[in-house]
This record gives sequence, structure tokens and C-alpha cells, in this order.
Amino acid sequence: MRMLGCFSLSCVALSAQQSWAQRSTARRSIRQVARAKGRLYGAALAAEYLDQPEYAAIVARDCNIAVAENVFKWGWVESQQGNFNFELSDKVVSFCQQHNIALRGHCLLWHSSIPDWLPRDAFPPLELIEPWMRAIMQRYPNVVAWDVVNEVIDDQDNGKTYNLRLNATPEYLRDIYRLAKRLSNGKSELVYNDYGTEGSSSWNLKRQKYIVDLLKYLVDQDTGISGFGIQSHLRTNISEVDLDSMRLFIRAIRRLGLRVYATELDFLIPFEMVPRDVDRVDRIIADAYQRYLDMLFSEGVDVVLTWGITDKSTWLRSPEYNPYNGHPELFPFIRPLLYDEQYQPKAAYDAVLQSFSETPAAKQLS
Ligand code: G3I
Repeated sequence: MRMLGCFSLSCVALSAQQSWAQRSTARRSIRQVARAKGRLYGAALAAEYLDQPEYAAIVARDCNIAVAENVFKWGWVESQQGNFNFELSDKVVSFCQQHNIALRGHCLLWHSSIPDWLPRDAFPPLELIEPWMRAIMQRYPNVVAWDVVNEVIDDQDNGKTYNLRLNATPEYLRDIYRLAKRLSNGKSELVYNDYGTEGSSSWNLKRQKYIVDLLKYLVDQDTGISGFGIQSHLRTNISEVDLDSMRLFIRAIRRLGLRVYATELDFLIPFEMVPRDVDRVDRIIADAYQRYLDMLFSEGVDVVLTWGITDKSTWLRSPEYNPYNGHPELFPFIRPLLYDEQYQPKAAYDAVLQSFSETPAAKQLS
């Protein structure tokens, strides 16, 4: 926050806070508006933030679904073979139970979360992944949807069937989903989750094709797969998000009888386009949220999760993933989520609330 003169600023901040607090009790939450429309809004939860009252308050206030950002990952839970540490995943589960928030499970198989006691350049044989899948799926039978496999389409065209990553084969993925179907007792949605499908570049369109082909194979093989998660880590410039291309892609997936979700939504302005003004950044991002959600809802996507709820915990500010690395002067403009780092709602919050409240109610899917 820019220091214009401490007193005046703190008064402004105080009155803004009071007015927001007053407004917030008066204003409906995204959770209420989403539910009234037969939809769900939620966020990826950073387990280490759940003890912070402000963080817990905004999650409980606005989310009717959630997902653990990291603590449901294989490498996190079974860091030593046979030794499952569910301490932090239990914390997320009990928080969601306490606040009547549905929970997604992310994720069972992902090349980036294979534990260190296994080779990292190959997916493990079924007999080595089954104990992990059995342990977490049977510990949390009320998870509403599992990202069974995450990001298995390779970034580079490798000529393999459906362009699968590492040693993955269609038959291996078929067996993973069939195993998940058996372990879930048919109670959870079984989802495939991936990125890079939101634009209309040749790379995006190829990824879309590989994903639709893979999903058709998994449907035809009676694996119990029931949905696709569009991660939606997006840039605000329109060339990166082609809404018309998205509509065609979503329709192709729904024609397979699958549900479509937005599972990891956040927006960033490409660093070469960032206005050095927080209010302008927030307005650009809010507009992008509104346009994207309006499109999703019009195409029957009724469950939307952002990848985090406050800029304070966004992965995009971590040194490992910061897309503005090398441009530290731009770090204050990494503002991808609905609340800022002081847990105050931003223009994106109002845009998302408006999109949920203004679109027609969701059609109850059969
Ligand atoms: O908790 C440790 C900490 O103790 C240690 O000091 C620190 C430095 O090594 O690392 C911390 O763990 C980090 C963890 O996030 C928690 O912050 C890991 O190094 C880091 O790799 C991990 O990154 C996560 C990443 O997935 C890899 O699992 C990001 O937070 C998370 O946002 C990101 O989420 C992925 C989705 O699962 C799949 N889709 C893409 C999305 C973004 O990459």
C-alpha cells in the first residue's frame, strides 16, 4: 500500500475497512450467491494458513468447495515409502467439514509429485501406486472429486498416442482410473486435470485435441472417468484466452458425457503489459475474471475454483514460479486472486460475485 501520509492513509484504510466490514455483513458472499444459482465457488487452500483467523474467515465466508494446494499430493503424504503423514491433509479435511465446504482431492498421479523414493523419470507400476491411492482414498471417502491424473499430456509433441508424458500409455492410464473407480466405491467424481487449453495457439489447439482424444478413450474403456478440470492459469491478454476456442473445447468434452470444471483459476498480466498502477492492474484482472466466468457459466461449467483466495499465498509470488522473476519492480503487481495480501476484497472479488449473481441459474445436470 502506498504511504501518502500515514495518518490520512490509515484513516482511509480504516474507513475502507469499516465500510468493507459493514458492506461485507450486508453484502452476500460468493458462497451464498453461488449456492443460490446451483453453483460452487472455491479455492485451493494453503494448509499452513488455516490457523490465521483472517484467512480462515474469508475461506469460510466465500467458499462452498475447496482443494488442498499441496498436502494431498503423493510426494507430500508418503515422503518415505509406507509411511503416510496425513497431519496436514487431516487439517484441511476437518476445516472443510467444520465449515460445510465440499472438498476436491488433488492429485493422485502427477509427474511432479512422485515421491523421492521412486525414479522421477517414469510413472510407477500399478503395484507401487496402489498402496498410496488406497490409503488416501479410503481415508477420505467424502472427497467429492479426485484429480486422478494431472498434466499427463506432454508439452512437446513426442509422437506418442495422445502425446503422453514419460512412459505413460493409454492402457496404464486406463488401469489407474479403473483402480480409482474401485477404491472410490463410485462415490467420487473421477477427473482428469490439465492446463494449456485456454488459448487458440497451435500449441493450445494440439493440447485440446490430445485431451479430447484421451478422454474419449478413457470413457470408451469404462474407467469411470466423469469430468475434466481446466486448470485456467491465465494471462489477461486476449490472445492467451480465446473464449470462442474454449467454448468449442468445452462442448467437445461435454459431448463425451463428462462434466467440465475450472479447477485452478488465476490471472496475471504479462509482464511486458503491466501498468505500474495497482488499481489499473486490479481492474484489468477483474474484467478478465468476469469475461471468463460469464463464458464458463454459459457453457454449463458450474464449479469454479481459484488457485488460492488471497494474493498473500499465491504460488505466483513464490521464487520457484514467479513469472516476473528478473523484474522485482513488478512484484507488487502480482495480484491474481480475489483478496489482496491484507485480506481485503479487490475488484476481482466484485467481478466474480457479479458474474455468479447475474448469470441464469445452473441447469441441473442429469
Ligand atoms: O513447504 C516447503 C518448505 O518447508 C520449504 O522450505 C520450501 C523451500 O523448499 O518448499 C516448501 O514446499 C513448496 C510447496 O509448494 C509449499 O509452498 C515446494 O518446494 C514447492 O515445489 C511447492 O510448489 C507447489 C507446486 O504445485 C508443486 O507441487 C505450489 O505451491 C502449488 O501452487 C503448485 O500447484 C500446481 C498444481 O498442483 C497443479 N497445477 C499447476 C499448479 C501450479 O504449479
